[in-house]
Amino acid sequence: MNDSIIKTLVVSFMVCLFCSLIVSYAAVSLRETQNINKLNDQRIKILKTASIYKANISIEEQFLKLTPKFVNFSSGELFDEYEGFDIDMYDPVYFSKQPKYSTPIPSKEDIAVIKNKENIGKIYLLKNQNNQLEKIILPIRGYGLWGILYGYIAIDSDLNTVRGLEFYAHKETPGLGAEVDNPKWKALWDGKKIYKDEQIQLKVIKGKVDPSNILAEYQVDGLSGATLTSRGVTNMISFWFSDSGYKETLMKLKYDG
Ligand SMILES: Cc1cc2nc3c(=O)[nH]c(=O)nc-3n(C[C@H](O)[C@H](O)[C@H](O)COP(=O)(O)O)c2cc1C
Repeated sequence: MNDSIIKTLVVSFMVCLFCSLIVSYAAVSLRETQNINKLNDQRIKILKTASIYKANISIEEQFLKLTPKFVNFSSGELFDEYEGFDIDMYDPVYFSKQPKYSTPIPSKEDIAVIKNKENIGKIYLLKNQNNQLEKIILPIRGYGLWGILYGYIAIDSDLNTVRGLEFYAHKETPGLGAEVDNPKWKALWDGKKIYKDEQIQLKVIKGKVDPSNILAEYQVDGLSGATLTSRGVTNMISFWFSDSGYKETLMKLKYDG
């Protein structure tokens, strides 16, 4: 009896099993490629933040222009060796989720709402042919409206002027908070100053910056209809340039060279 219920069930089961095997095989075999693509995408963002990305040159080759350094947030020191980790593959965000390698941020300090901070961070230095510092590229992250925005900010060798900002992951709404990816908005950051008398002044304001305002060089236009995302960006700047973030490192570089 070809139309028995048992046969129908057996055939359905076989079809399901076959399909699930194909899907599992595809998921496993593509994982490596997905990880490489994710890493490359992040590297492109870092190169773009540093304004040195060229689409026609391999990412690996371009990335050699940047010198990665581990950062000790407490002492501000930069170093090359940390518990035998490969600095090129070291992902601060991953380590921020490992209890052994991270510290919970006290809630009153946690203005970027990221909960945990990696004990050791990683930044990139861009130097010129004479080995002089040109730019520093710093990873930043913080809560927007729907989730954490992950990105990079580049600052000039004066250690106070922004030279680039890019986000590589976020959950903000297209047309509203996701306008953080709009090239026109990102371009507004170039030349903005971070600290005024060693206090963080840089913020995304509501509305447009008035060029005659004495604080105009510390202000960026708000994203219209996205006040909460804009506030999130301000908060992440305030956190990562404070004593909890890179301030110690920047001061050290400024005074010790
Ligand atoms: C579906 C939906 C998506 C939204 N997405 C965002 C967003 O990504 N970022 C944001 O700041 N506000 C978003 N908002 C708006 C906020 O709820 C809030 O109204 C807004 O931040 C207030 O900003 P405004 O004062 O500039 O209008 C969204 C609202 C809705 C209804």
